[in-house]
Amino acid sequence: MNPLPSLADADYRGRTVLVRADLNVPLRDGVVEDEFRLEAAIPTLTTLRRSGARVVVCSHLGRPKGIDPAFSMRPVGERLAALGGFPVTVASDVAGPGAASAVKAPGDDVILLENTRFEPGETKNDPDLADRLAALADAFVMDAFGSAHRAHSSTVGVAERLPSVAGPLLLAEVGAFERILGSPDRPYVVVLGGAKVSDKLGVIKALLPKVDVMLVGGAMCFTLLAAEGYGVGASLVEADMIDAAAEVLGSAAGSRLNLPSDLVAADRMSADSPHRVVPADAIPEGAVCLDIGPETAERFAVIAGGADTLFWNGPMGVFEWEPFAVGTRRVATAIAASSAYSVVGGGDSVAALRAMGLADAVSHLSTGGGAGLELIERGSLPGIEVLRVPRP
Ligand code: 3PG
Repeated sequence: MNPLPSLADADYRGRTVLVRADLNVPLRDGVVEDEFRLEAAIPTLTTLRRSGARVVVCSHLGRPKGIDPAFSMRPVGERLAALGGFPVTVASDVAGPGAASAVKAPGDDVILLENTRFEPGETKNDPDLADRLAALADAFVMDAFGSAHRAHSSTVGVAERLPSVAGPLLLAEVGAFERILGSPDRPYVVVLGGAKVSDKLGVIKALLPKVDVMLVGGAMCFTLLAAEGYGVGASLVEADMIDAAAEVLGSAAGSRLNLPSDLVAADRMSADSPHRVVPADAIPEGAVCLDIGPETAERFAVIAGGADTLFWNGPMGVFEWEPFAVGTRRVATAIAASSAYSVVGGGDSVAALRAMGLADAVSHLSTGGGAGLELIERGSLPGIEVLRVPRP
């Protein structure tokens, strides 16, 4: 396998460099709600500016169906400029005349192209769009780990057309995942949560043989509990995944999978619902469980606290609602307090740690959600592999 080329392998002075970043941040009423991905993207842009490059950045934002002002990069550009301390000009299109004139205009501002998904060809890795993006720059830096599982025009297509390297953020992410996938220090504990087991079954299968213990909370645990024969009340279950979940539980490594022994059961799916702690084998009919219970949270915290390598993705409950945030907080605190090499990925887990002021207490906070999970499951990602192919 060829090593990934990096910024150190190129001289960008006087050259125009297109950076693919993952600036896909949550927006509410046109305001950026979480700046983690912007903060993570900035050091690469600053390094390139200092090296004398003209920097052009592109990213997708949300999943618009064509051009939609609600998904414009303008608010992202504003926050990027404020956080980065450099001027940012948002182009009026992705790779059309607006982008071309913004890139050609003199100045040392960072040019942020419009939302790549305003172009219908983006998600199809359309060659014409990749050609137009490549024509804007002399070189390409792929730094969007969070989007590296997408073989799109702005990730793979453009990398096939320009001299391309992996950016520092992408390299840091790859290094962190290599460490937990290679020969991790033991005990190796993985904590998984989130809503759907269907999103994570591949990851569970890939990781279970490698870990010492896997702790599963979040709504995804109910499909696994149902596969064990428990009644789960009105909690979220993916009926079509029960057989696959039973297969995983019955596999050779299935005993490493640790499920909740108690849960917080609510009368209804709302932040102010009456709720009580119930044993996992006695969930009342009609109740909807919205968090792991205190006994489970303590057990998970103790197991995580004894690990030498930790990977966490997905909250333990509906942590946006205060009464159901306790399990996620307990697990987050234990991971932050541990001396293990710890990697945390997924928007919700990262947001929980940041909200608790614990972001600096973990070894690696990943900008990838789905990308990290796919890297674990498949061992590689198209947006990374394309960079290993030597190009002039
Ligand atoms: C993410 O948020 O996981 C990435 O930005 C990818 O977004 P997507 O799932 O819309 O492709």
